[in-house]
Amino acid sequence: MKSSSPDKGKTVNPHWRQALPSDLPAIAAIAAQIHPELPERPEVFAEKQRLYPGGCRVLVAGDAVGGYGLAHPWKLNRIPPLDDFLRDLPDDADCLYVHDVVVLPKFRGRRIAGAYVTDIAALARAADINSLALVSVYGTQSMWERFGFRAVASDAALRDKLAGYGESATYMVCRLTA
Ligand SMILES: CC(C)(COP(=O)(O)OP(=O)(O)OC[C@H]1O[C@@H](n2cnc3c(N)ncnc32)[C@H](O)[C@@H]1OP(=O)(O)O)[C@@H](O)C(=O)NCCC(=O)NCCS
Repeated sequence: MKSSSPDKGKTVNPHWRQALPSDLPAIAAIAAQIHPELPERPEVFAEKQRLYPGGCRVLVAGDAVGGYGLAHPWKLNRIPPLDDFLRDLPDDADCLYVHDVVVLPKFRGRRIAGAYVTDIAALARAADINSLALVSVYGTQSMWERFGFRAVASDAALRDKLAGYGESATYMVCRLTA
């Protein structure tokens, strides 16, 4: 699948679906385009897809991949390393951690990230997990607040991990209601 093409997306309704291993090159290409300052190796994305395929979704419009979302079970108040392997998922996970959501510019303006959050919230509830967590970057905090995320006061350990994500990085949690 290619990452996008000039006229696609306007005529085809983009939607999220679970990512396949064959989508990983498109995910890595989009990540490299959108996050040049927070680079991650393709193998790191591949590990997340392998460990928790349900949380790894791609935005598709026709035959184009127009974005991706990656999430996996994790522990609240812990931030997984950037560009490194998780190795295992915790048996006692109490949140789904949203590692990243990207919508390519030509598909933006339709609140598509919100649809990803809805999908992930359903996945969490089905697994008896009551919270979503993420690190907001690029000043996206107000957008996440609209989906129910709230900034969490960070202790020294959390602040240390946040430092690698840039200045505006904020750890946020969304408590899911029944
Ligand atoms: C963040 C992102 C996924 C949102 O994509 P989207 O769902 O298509 O978002 P939309 O363009 O429909 O915007 C939805 C709302 O969020 C707001 N918003 C979007 N990006 C924002 C940002 N960076 N900061 C603050 N608000 C933002 C929009 O103003 C819009 O508000 P409105 O509904 O009142 O008009 C997309 O902008 C993106 O991929 N950005 C680069 C990667 C990124 O920042 N990912 C998040 C990492 S935590």
